[in-house]
Amino acid sequence: MDKTRISVIDWEKDIYSKGKQLNHWPYTDVISDLITLTKGKDRKTLKILEIGCGSCNNLWFAAELGLQIYGLDISKTAIAYGKDRLNALGYKEHDLRVGDLTALDWDDDFFDIVLDRGALTQNNYERIEGCLKEIKRILKKNGLLLSYTLFGLNSTDIKYGKEVSRNTYDHFSAETKFSTIGLTSFFDVDALEQLFSEFNGLEIKRHLKEDVKTAHKIESYSVIGYN
Ligand SMILES: C[S@@+](CC[C@H](N)C(=O)[O-])C[C@H]1O[C@@H](n2cnc3c(N)ncnc32)[C@H](O)[C@@H]1O
Repeated sequence: MDKTRISVIDWEKDIYSKGKQLNHWPYTDVISDLITLTKGKDRKTLKILEIGCGSCNNLWFAAELGLQIYGLDISKTAIAYGKDRLNALGYKEHDLRVGDLTALDWDDDFFDIVLDRGALTQNNYERIEGCLKEIKRILKKNGLLLSYTLFGLNSTDIKYGKEVSRNTYDHFSAETKFSTIGLTSFFDVDALEQLFSEFNGLEIKRHLKEDVKTAHKIESYSVIGYN
């Protein structure tokens, strides 16, 4: 395997360039939180960046709300697809870039909101720490970080993967959905409090989906923090 690859599964080569996982609809919690957290504000003045924006399924909704949209993804296919989609829908003002979330090439104090829906969790802890430092830098004072789908250490499918660094697993066998997304980091509340310790007013929520017959569990967390 190419040593520069982050995971056994490559988002560009193995997923998006094959037309897979080009999500269409925004994530439910992104819809409700963006509406609530921007209520009463002049939305057209707010800048939002989504790291790991994929096919722009969440950014499309942010544009619909009137926010100024910015996106970054490691996959050029996803970014090209997202650009076409936004343009076709008439949202022509956007800044979408191909790049890695550990290097965010925007000025200090630039964004009102940074959104992560399922991108941080696809990186190891070291890379997540690097990204959170960058997010702190580019967020305005009191700017918001919204992070969703940080997988929990109580997810039963961890057992189908191999631990490659602390709490980070890869090489999942075919029994689990993680085999289609590759390297995944898992968390508990202590780990999240430590990783996000530079952010204020942390709101951490735990979500648990358990099949009552099989006891199969997918645990995930969402984190909201202020700069
Ligand atoms: C689970 S998908 C989520 C896509 C979208 N945010 C959504 O809510 O549907 C994870 C996304 O993160 C991107 N990603 C993962 N690691 C990344 C990295 N190191 N730098 C930039 N993007 C990354 C992937 O290419 C993929 O688009």
